[in-house]
Amino acid sequence: MKTLVQNGRIVTAVDDYKADILIEGEVVSVIGAKLEMEADRVIDASGKLVIPGGIDPHTHMELPFGGTQASDDFRTGTIAAAHGGTTTIIDFAVQYKGQTLTEGLDAWHAKAEGKCAIDYGFHLITTDLEDERVPELHRVMDEGVTSFKMFMAYPGVFLVDDATIFRAMSAAGERGGLICMHAENGVVINEIIKRALAAGRTAPKYHALTRPTRAEAEGVHRAIAIAEMAESPVYIVHLSCADALEQVREARDRGLPAFAETCPQYLFLSLDDYGEGFEGAKYVMTPPLRERWNQAELWKGLKTDDLQVISTDHCPFCMKEQKELGRDDFSKIPNGAPGVEHRVPLIYNGGVVENRVSLNRFVELTSTAAAKMFGLFPRKGTIAVGSDADIVIFDPDREQTISAATHHMNVDYSAYEGRTIRGVVETVLSRGRICIENGEYKGKAGDGQFLKRGTCISM
Ligand code: URP
Ligand code: ZN
Ligand code: ZN
Repeated sequence: MKTLVQNGRIVTAVDDYKADILIEGEVVSVIGAKLEMEADRVIDASGKLVIPGGIDPHTHMELPFGGTQASDDFRTGTIAAAHGGTTTIIDFAVQYKGQTLTEGLDAWHAKAEGKCAIDYGFHLITTDLEDERVPELHRVMDEGVTSFKMFMAYPGVFLVDDATIFRAMSAAGERGGLICMHAENGVVINEIIKRALAAGRTAPKYHALTRPTRAEAEGVHRAIAIAEMAESPVYIVHLSCADALEQVREARDRGLPAFAETCPQYLFLSLDDYGEGFEGAKYVMTPPLRERWNQAELWKGLKTDDLQVISTDHCPFCMKEQKELGRDDFSKIPNGAPGVEHRVPLIYNGGVVENRVSLNRFVELTSTAAAKMFGLFPRKGTIAVGSDADIVIFDPDREQTISAATHHMNVDYSAYEGRTIRGVVETVLSRGRICIENGEYKGKAGDGQFLKRGTCISM
């Protein structure tokens, strides 16, 4: 099968030019001006941006959490991702305490296999890593799972102690692997939560008010310090505030391999969104939304490369029957929010249209940087001869209004309900196949394949 994409403006993290692209099978085979080649299908991209498929390296499809499970499975969640111009996700498999790493990973392979609309990889949430498990960690890396998430939060569920973090960082680091850290002092946070509940403070906004930015900054500081002692890199996930960013900036200024991602919710939403009533449960995620002034600091960090990646932390729970579990107690509201569908257009609108980042940096933040960070570049994250033909044809002029009534995520609300933004994903190719055409899903379950990833090349 040959596809010719004509007359588009190709934008990568470094290039910006008009050319045609010939795709043969699953990969880009020729890029050039006015190609006159036979093709089975011709796509006219006049007036459109032609960008590499988005990479969202932080999703939680059907994650069992908070007494329920994330409402998108690998089918609905990856279809929604594709609608929004994302052609690769990296989801989080879980090794529960007492399990081997392989048992955790196998369970997530079983959930995803044959269901995905787009390509996917796994990080592995690691909750148990005694010395004797280290060879297994290296075997898992050989199978293409080269990054591991560890938690300083959620005591009794995912939290691991500093010794385990140090062992994991040393073990992963010696083979070029990466620890992704949920950096928040969950032990202190739990004490603050207990006090709030004892004082009768049960509304959703207290989720945010019991998780101070200092608890996140302390976690980030400690994660970086442990990584420094382990002589390993560290990647901070879902960084939400200026206090935490300051810790990353200080480390990077000292030349340490400390990396971080933020998410659209921390760039576009704030503490004000919780309001007083139960509707605020929509925004119960961890870390929580912060005071609005933090947003400008995060944008500055994205510009100066103290933040390298924008992911979503997509972890949707419906208001009905799921968020409702915490109607009388905010600490029982399942933590997480939907987002996988709108990351690319939200960042285009808030970043490029609103003059905060360049068009090239937009591509880098939503695709290329994650490919490099997580061992997928140059197969993914760019448009180049030999790369996978994961290509998005993006209309930079059309507007869309985000709403739960029209989105494709399996969740009964949108965190951005009613927001009108400029930029619409029109057509999406996933390894050369049409996945989305004029806004309609044309693929089938199982088109997306598991990606064996290499190691980070961002250092
Ligand atoms: O609230 C969140 N972020 N839920 C998903 C789990 C996590 O901590 O990433
Ligand atoms: Zn987390
Ligand atoms: Zn997460």
